[in-house]
Amino acid sequence: MDQPELLKIAVLGAGGQLGQTFRQISKLYPDIAFDFFDKSELNILHKEDIHNVLNSNTYRYVVNCAAYTHVDKAESEPDLCFAINATACKHIAEIMQGTEMRLIHFSSDYIYHTYNGFPLKESTNPEPQGVYASSKLLGEQYIRAASVPALILRASWIVSPFGHNFVKTMLRLGKEKDQLHVVNDQYGAPTYARDLAMAVMSIIRKTEANPTNLTSFNTTYNYANEGIVSWFDISTRIMKELQFSCIVHPISSSGYPTPAQRPKWSVLSKQSIKNNFNLEIPHWYRSLTQCLQELTEKQ
Ligand SMILES: NC(=O)c1ccc[n+]([C@@H]2O[C@H](COP(=O)([O-])OP(=O)(O)OC[C@H]3O[C@@H](n4cnc5c(N)ncnc54)[C@H](OP(=O)(O)O)[C@@H]3O)[C@@H](O)[C@H]2O)c1
Repeated sequence: MDQPELLKIAVLGAGGQLGQTFRQISKLYPDIAFDFFDKSELNILHKEDIHNVLNSNTYRYVVNCAAYTHVDKAESEPDLCFAINATACKHIAEIMQGTEMRLIHFSSDYIYHTYNGFPLKESTNPEPQGVYASSKLLGEQYIRAASVPALILRASWIVSPFGHNFVKTMLRLGKEKDQLHVVNDQYGAPTYARDLAMAVMSIIRKTEANPTNLTSFNTTYNYANEGIVSWFDISTRIMKELQFSCIVHPISSSGYPTPAQRPKWSVLSKQSIKNNFNLEIPHWYRSLTQCLQELTEKQ
C-alpha cells in the first residue's frame, strides 16, 4: 500500500539561532520531512539558487530564518542589509507565487520603535529607526505584496543555546567579570527560540488540520515570551540562577551609545496569535531557566 506523502518543510538560514532551533526540534516531528539550508547551501542573495531549491521539491512550507541581524553593523552596510532582509525576501515570495507553498517569515520588534505605555499591537504604526529596522519592515511589505500565503512573526530579543545572543554573552561575562553594567530602560521580553519554533509547528499543524485556518495563517503577528522586563532584569536573573558572584549595575541607554538606536519599548501584545491559534505562550522566566539549563548542559 502507498505510504501517505510526508509534509515537507524547507528551513532557510539554518545556521542561525532560530534555524538551528528548528533543526533541534525537527526530531519531535517524525511525520514531517525537513530540509535545512544554511548560507553555504543556499545563499538567499542568489535568486536563481532559491528558484532551483524551491522548485526542485514539493515543499509545503518554507521557513525563512535567514537574515542580516547585525543591527549596528547594518548602519555602515545598508545595501547588504536591505539586499538580505528586503530584496531577497521579495524574491523568495515571488518564486513561491502560483505554487502550493506557504511562507513563514520572521520580523522584529524594531519595526515599531514607539512608546505608548501599552503592549504594542500589530496595528501600531511602524516607526523603524535605522537600517536594520527599516530593512525588516520593507521585507514584510514585499512579502505581503506578493500573493503567497505568508505567516509573518514579529519577535523580540531572541535567545537560545545557539549562535550569538544576550543570554550567552551574560553567561560568559558572568564568569569572567566581578561587575557589569546593563541597561535598565529598554523594556520588552525575550523570545526563547524553542518556544517560537514550537509555536510555528503548532500553527502548521492547525493550518493543515483545517484549511479554513489559512486566513489566520496569512497574517502578521507578534510573538515573544510573556512578561515585561528590562535587559538588567534578565541579567540579574541569570547571575542569580547560575549563582555567579558578578554584580550587575543598572545603567541608562544614554550611557551605552550604539550606532543603531534600540527601541525603549518592545512590549508586544500577543493577544492576536494566542486567540487565532489557541496558543499558550510560556513566561520569560520559565523559558530563561530552560535556556540556561540547555546551555549549562552543553558545557
Ligand atoms: N536575534 C534577535 O534578537 C531577533 C529579534 C527579533 C527578530 N529577529 C529575526 O528573527 C529571525 C532569526 O534571527 P536569528 O536570531 O536566528 O538570527 P541569526 O542567528 O543571525 O541567523 C540568521 C542566519 O541567516 C544567515 N544568513 C545571512 N545572510 C544570508 C544569506 N544571504 N543567505 C542565507 N543565509 C543567510 C546567517 O548566516 P551568517 O551568520 O553566516 O551571515 C545566519 O546563520 C531573523 O529574521 C531576525 O531578523 C531576531
